[in-house]
Amino acid sequence: MGPPKVLVADSIAARGIEELSSDGTVAAVVKTGQSELELVDLIPEFDGIIVRSETKVTAKILNAGIRLRVVGRAGVGVDNVDVETATRRGVIVLNAPGGNTVSTAEHAFSLLLSAARKIPQADANVRSLQVELVDELDDLLTNADFISLHTPLTAETRHILDATRLQKTRRGVRIINCARGGLIDETALVKALQDGRVAGAALDVFEIEPLPSDSPLRSAPNLVLTPHLGASTVEAQESVGIEIAQSIRAALLEGTIRNAVNMPNLDAKTL
Ligand code: MLT
Repeated sequence: MGPPKVLVADSIAARGIEELSSDGTVAAVVKTGQSELELVDLIPEFDGIIVRSETKVTAKILNAGIRLRVVGRAGVGVDNVDVETATRRGVIVLNAPGGNTVSTAEHAFSLLLSAARKIPQADANVRSLQVELVDELDDLLTNADFISLHTPLTAETRHILDATRLQKTRRGVRIINCARGGLIDETALVKALQDGRVAGAALDVFEIEPLPSDSPLRSAPNLVLTPHLGASTVEAQESVGIEIAQSIRAALLEGTIRNAVNMPNLDAKTL
């Protein structure tokens, strides 16, 4: 039996591949752009799979993965992985929570400033803003001049900003979303932009990506759109690539689980 094999199904930074397999204890096979059917054919020979956001790790793929022990997401969100099926099959799902948060935060702020449309004045304004942490969403909604969303997309957070909540916001609020598209009801946001309750918004993520050509967001006023590039910096991609490679190696070679989203973190001794 050779070393454990890991399929790298979306492109990750070269440094990540090096970290994963350069010492020969793990074999990495890079095959990107595969369809679900192709992955169903490929997966039976692999112990692990690494994806970014293009590949959806569906129940079909997981069920075909007879040797599969670990799924690694080179990024934070795991909404492209069927975590429930993975958990049922005892497959560990790991993410890389630390690597790209800074880049995404940078992008959120860039968008925030762009949404305000007066970049120098807005820049001065943001610098002088006192950031207040509020526990209650309703307080946040009624008091905030800027709302920036930073939460995973789950059944509970889907449409966390819906028509009702948008109506509770301070008139003239500006909204930034670099997290996940489904957090905002896009139809409600378009209406709120049209009637001026929301003075500006900037979105890096959408309910459907890429943004459909007939999406009403395309013609909404005072809206800045970017194509899910919050984490697309060289630094962030190297960082998440290395982070997920290290976590996959720890799981496959030592039985150590860290940054799992579907089971507790464990070291090999505890196991
Ligand atoms: C993440 O979940 O890490 C970010 O949305 C970036 C990405 O999709 O890779």
